[in-house]
Amino acid sequence: AKNLAGKSFLKLLDLTPEQVKDLIKLSQQFKDMKMAGIPHKYLEGKNIVLLFEKTSTRTRCAFEVAGMDLGMGVTYLDPGSSQMGKKESIADTARVLGRMYDGIEYRGFSQELVEDLAKYSGVPVWNGLTDDFHPTQMIADMLTVQENFGKLKGLNFTFMGDARNNVANSLMVVCSQLGLNFTACGPKELMPKKDLIEKCEEICKVTGATLRFTESVEEGCKDADVIYTDIWVSMGEPDSVWAERIKLLSPYQVNKKAMSYAKEEAIFMHCLPSFHDLKTTIGKEIYEKFGLPEMEVTDEVFESPQSKVFDEAENRMHTIKAVMYSTLK
Ligand code: CP
Ligand code: NVA
Repeated sequence: AKNLAGKSFLKLLDLTPEQVKDLIKLSQQFKDMKMAGIPHKYLEGKNIVLLFEKTSTRTRCAFEVAGMDLGMGVTYLDPGSSQMGKKESIADTARVLGRMYDGIEYRGFSQELVEDLAKYSGVPVWNGLTDDFHPTQMIADMLTVQENFGKLKGLNFTFMGDARNNVANSLMVVCSQLGLNFTACGPKELMPKKDLIEKCEEICKVTGATLRFTESVEEGCKDADVIYTDIWVSMGEPDSVWAERIKLLSPYQVNKKAMSYAKEEAIFMHCLPSFHDLKTTIGKEIYEKFGLPEMEVTDEVFESPQSKVFDEAENRMHTIKAVMYSTLK
């Protein structure tokens, strides 16, 4: 992507729609090379460090495999195994790591913190999820949508559920930038914040995308090309919010009925991890406490041919290559 060399990737609002499109295009090229078995160690000799203050499966593994495929050395640091935030400030940690590594991935809590890391480290920093945004996920999601419909502009994209979380925020931004019609479908208490909506409305004026906010499932899912959801309680939120969220969000479960309002060729997406399968430890706990057999998506929809969730997960790896290559090359 043009003009990203040496820059950080902190939130999509820092990029132009053209730069986002370039990243998607480059991701497709990396995916084609991987599929064809063509080596692409374009960043040989560089080293990156991955800092995680929250847990991860996809993001961590996508960065590790992407880094190795590009020929780089990769270090993984979890909060338990470094000084960061306990004995040593983030600013000092950033300055130390900036002396040793060519790039830093950070997953944690506040958006300010990842912005500070970029400011102090002097090397490109990639946001691997904060409380506010999940920008690398967006490139993977848009690649997945494009693979299914051959285009992005003009598609109807509906997010169901907690529309003020990091993933929903980022989806509203990327849809605005790429000309998709974004609908947040959920309770009024969990709609995106006003200042972010205003920023997106400005972008929509240029791209022709539209934004819509509705409490009605029928209205929200009607004629959708994509129905997307995420877990009802995000990392970093206290367990005590579960009861309230279940009450507010149960009507917005993605089930056969919700999918039936969408277009026949509509796809289902979820950034994962998902609570469609309650055989996990936390899933079991919640089930025992609240007696809910299914949460944000039913097993039936999750396992249906309309569900593209594992393509989406795989695309994290191809798209993170594009992000790292564009900023480190
Ligand atoms: N979608 C996603 O970011 O997954 P992980 O939390 O497993 O990284
Ligand atoms: N909203 C979720 C996304 C996980 C990838 C969270 O922040 O926990």
